[in-house]
Amino acid sequence: MTSGDITFHTRKWVRPEDLNANGTLFGGSLLRWIDEEAAIYAIVQLGNGNAVTKYMSEINFVSSAVQGDLIEMGLTATHFGRTSLTMRAEVRNMFTRESILTIEKIVFVNLDDDGLPAPHGYTSITYDRDRVPYQHLGTAGR
Ligand SMILES: CC(C)(COP(=O)(O)OP(=O)(O)OC[C@H]1O[C@@H](n2cnc3c(N)ncnc32)[C@H](O)[C@@H]1OP(=O)(O)O)[C@@H](O)C(=O)NCCC(=O)NCCS
Repeated sequence: MTSGDITFHTRKWVRPEDLNANGTLFGGSLLRWIDEEAAIYAIVQLGNGNAVTKYMSEINFVSSAVQGDLIEMGLTATHFGRTSLTMRAEVRNMFTRESILTIEKIVFVNLDDDGLPAPHGYTSITYDRDRVPYQHLGTAGR
């Protein structure tokens, strides 16, 4: 399922604990889900479990969701820097098909074991599982 270059991998079910006082999806829950989704995407693309959120551009909540709705989240890499990865995110309501938000720039930075920015060496998107974080190479094949 794609929208432009974005592949929508993850779905969430809007539950009572995800609502704001208006009875619609709480922005904080959505941002937590997006940050986690972006972290997983960055780990897979950079082959390093030690990548952190550096920057998020303006977020415009254009529509919402209500309890029981299903939403889907998608990300795509838009730029591979030296130590960073920039992504674009979109979230939409599966029932109404409306876009809930887009984030044009989410930047993650690849860190070394000392927590300092480190070159990741990648320039393009992988659609495979070929960049398994080195910490897990001993258990490859799971
Ligand atoms: C991530 C961190 C180590 C980067 O340190 P830094 O001194 O900014 O590092 P650099 O200046 O070398 O920049 C690293 C990369 O981030 C990019 N970057 C830095 N600031 C940026 C910004 N405001 N917007 C977009 N990209 C930015 C740089 O362009 C560079 O990318 P490149 O190597 O691909 O060109 C440091 O800022 C940090 O620890 N931040 C907290 C991260 C965190 O804990 N996040 C979780 C949420 S609290």
